[in-house]
Amino acid sequence: MSEQIFNPNPEHAKDAAINSMEAYWKLQNHAIEDYEGFWKGFADKKIDWIEPYDTVLDESNAPFYKWFSNGKLNVSNQCVDRHLAEKSEQNAIIFEGDKGDVQHITYAQLSKHVNKLANLLKNKFGIKKGDRVVLYMPMIPEAAYAMLACTRLGAIHSIVFGGFSSEALKDRIEDAEAKIVITADGAFRKGKPYMLKNVVDDALSDGGKSIEAVLVVKRNNEEITWVEGRDHSYNELIKAESEECPFEPMESEDPLFLLYTSGSTGKPKGVQHSTAGYILWAQMTMEWVFDLRKNDVYWCTADVGWITGHTYIVYGPLAAGGTTVMFEGVPTYPDAGRAWQMVQDHNITQFYTAPTAIRLLHKTGEEEPKKYDLSKLRVLGTVGEPIDPPAWKWYYEVVGNSKCAIVDTYWQTETGGHVISPLPGATPIKPGCATFALPGIMAEVIEEDGTPTPVGEKGFMCITKPWPAMIRNIWNNPERFKKSYFGDCKKDGEAVYFTGDGAMIAEDGYITITGRTDDVINVSGHRMGTAEVEAAIKKHDSVAAVAVVGKPHDIKGEGIFAYIVLKNPSEGNEDLKIAINKVIKKEIGAIALCDAIAFVPDVPKTRSGKIMRRILRSIVKGEAITQDTSTLEDPSIVAIIEGIVKKS
Ligand code: WT7
Repeated sequence: MSEQIFNPNPEHAKDAAINSMEAYWKLQNHAIEDYEGFWKGFADKKIDWIEPYDTVLDESNAPFYKWFSNGKLNVSNQCVDRHLAEKSEQNAIIFEGDKGDVQHITYAQLSKHVNKLANLLKNKFGIKKGDRVVLYMPMIPEAAYAMLACTRLGAIHSIVFGGFSSEALKDRIEDAEAKIVITADGAFRKGKPYMLKNVVDDALSDGGKSIEAVLVVKRNNEEITWVEGRDHSYNELIKAESEECPFEPMESEDPLFLLYTSGSTGKPKGVQHSTAGYILWAQMTMEWVFDLRKNDVYWCTADVGWITGHTYIVYGPLAAGGTTVMFEGVPTYPDAGRAWQMVQDHNITQFYTAPTAIRLLHKTGEEEPKKYDLSKLRVLGTVGEPIDPPAWKWYYEVVGNSKCAIVDTYWQTETGGHVISPLPGATPIKPGCATFALPGIMAEVIEEDGTPTPVGEKGFMCITKPWPAMIRNIWNNPERFKKSYFGDCKKDGEAVYFTGDGAMIAEDGYITITGRTDDVINVSGHRMGTAEVEAAIKKHDSVAAVAVVGKPHDIKGEGIFAYIVLKNPSEGNEDLKIAINKVIKKEIGAIALCDAIAFVPDVPKTRSGKIMRRILRSIVKGEAITQDTSTLEDPSIVAIIEGIVKKS
C-alpha cells in the first residue's frame, strides 16, 4: 500500500491555492534563492500592518531570531476587524454543543463579543499589554472570544487544556505568573454536565498567588462555589461593556501566547509564540494546506487547549476570513455517526482530526459515513501522529469517497503551524507519509553534524533555517530553549532547530516521520513526557523507582506503561495500581493515566545508574532483546521483568 500514489482530484485541483507540483516548486525555489524576499512578499500581502517593519529576519542573536522587527500589528484586527467591511454577515464561528444546540456567530457578532470582553478585562481587571491570562475553558465560543480579547489588549494568553488537573493548572499559573483565570462553570460531554470551576478553586486553594480574579462563564448552569471578591460572572459583567475597544498596536515580536507542552524533564515548558510571524504562517497554511476558499465551512475537531486548537480552530481560519466550526462534544455521541451528521448539516468542506479519532470512528462505525451526505468535503486532514494504512484507507475511501485529498500534516506546538504536509491540489500522496516541506520551510533529514542522512535511513528531522512561526523562547527559561531545540544538530557549524523526531527521506524526496527520538510518548496525538508521568508516580509513598514507556495501542497509538519498583514489594496489588493512577490524575490529569502497571523488583540500569529504557520498550512490545545487556548492573533482571510482563 505504501507504494500506491494518490493524485490530487483534478476537479478540486484546478482552483486550488497551489494547484500543481510546478507551482509548489516555483514557491519553494523562490524561498531557496531569496529566503527573505520570499517571506517579505507574503508578510506585505497578508498582514494588515499598522506600522511597517524594518528588517525581515534578524539573526544577530541566534537562536533568538526576530522576524519583521519593529513592525506593528494586532492579531484581533487581523482576525476580526479587517474582515468587517466585506464579511460582517458571514459566519466566523459555527458552534455546535454536545446536545446539538447550534450558534451561528457572524464576524459582526464576533467583533462585538471580542470588544466587550476586551473592555471588561481592561476596565474591570486592569489587564494590559504583557499581562498573562490563563484560560481554563471548555470548547465554547467564549474561549475564542477570550483569546481574541487578550490579543486585542496585547495580553498573553496561556490556555490550559480542560483535562489537566488542579495541580497541573496551578503549576502553569505559577510559572507564567498570571493575573487572571478565565474559566466556565463547566460544559457538557456525552449528554452530561462536567465541571471546570472546582478545578480552578482547587488550584488556587494553596497556590497561584499571582491570580487576582477568576472570571466565570456560565455554560452548564450547574451549582458552583463562589469566592466573593475573587470570582466574577462574565455573563453579568459583560452586559455593561461597550462594543468598541481600540486594539493595541503590538510589535511583531511581542509574545502572542504561551502554551505549555511536555519535554524530557518533569516540568512542562511554556512555549512562547510571537505576534507577526505566528499569525502570518497560521493564515498562509490555512490557505495552502486546507485550500480554504470563499463559502467553505471548515471543521477541526481539536480542543483549544492544544496548539491545533490555537492555530487551526481560531487564529488560522479567522485570519484567513473563513468559517470555523467549534464543537463541544465528542464524535461518538450520541452515536458514531455524530461527526458525519455534523459534516452534512453544516456543509463542511474541510475536516481535520487526529488518527486516534479516525481509528475510533472506523472501529465503532465503519459504515456510518455512508448514511450521510458528505459530498461537500474536499480536504481531509490528520495531525498528531502517523496514520496507519487501514485508518488511512477508510478515511480516504469511505469518508472521502475517494475524491478528497488527505493532508497528513506534520508539525508541533513549537513550529506554530504545519511544516511538512501534502498540498491538496498539488501533491501526489503516499499514505502515511507527510510528503514535502511546505514552501518556505527548510526541513532536512540530517545527521548531528548536518550531513544529509542517506536515502531510506533514519535521521534527525531538522529545520535548518528559522521560519516566522517558530517558537521564540521557553517562558522564563532561555537556557532550556537553547538546549532543547538547538543543542543536538548543527549545519555548517551553526546550531539548527531539531524537532525531536526521527524521519526518513526516500529517493524521490518524500519525507516519512518515524517518531520521537526522545523520552516523549504520543498518547492519542497528545504529547506526554515520560519524566513528567514518572515524577507524578514518585509522589506515591510506596514507590521507590519508576520507568515509564509507551506501549502500542490500537486506538490511542500509544498508551502509558509503567514499571514500578516498590519500597515494600509485598504491597504490589491491584488496589495499589488504582491508588497510583489516582496520584497521576491529581498531579497531571486523566490524560496521563497508565494503561498498565507492572511491579518489578528492579529496573535495568547501567553501572552508572542510567535506566535502559530501550530494553523496557522492547519488553513491553514483546520484542526480542537485541541490546547488549552485559553493561547492566544486573543483567539477570531483564529475564525477570520479561517474565512479569508476559504474565500480566
Ligand atoms: C509531535 C508534536 C502538531 C499538533 C499536534 C501535536 C508528532 C505531529 C505528526 C504527523 C507523525 C506527528 C511528532 C511531533 N506528530 N504530527 N503528521 N505524523 N507524527 O502537537 O503535542 O506538539 O506534538 O507530534 O512526534 O513532534 P505536539
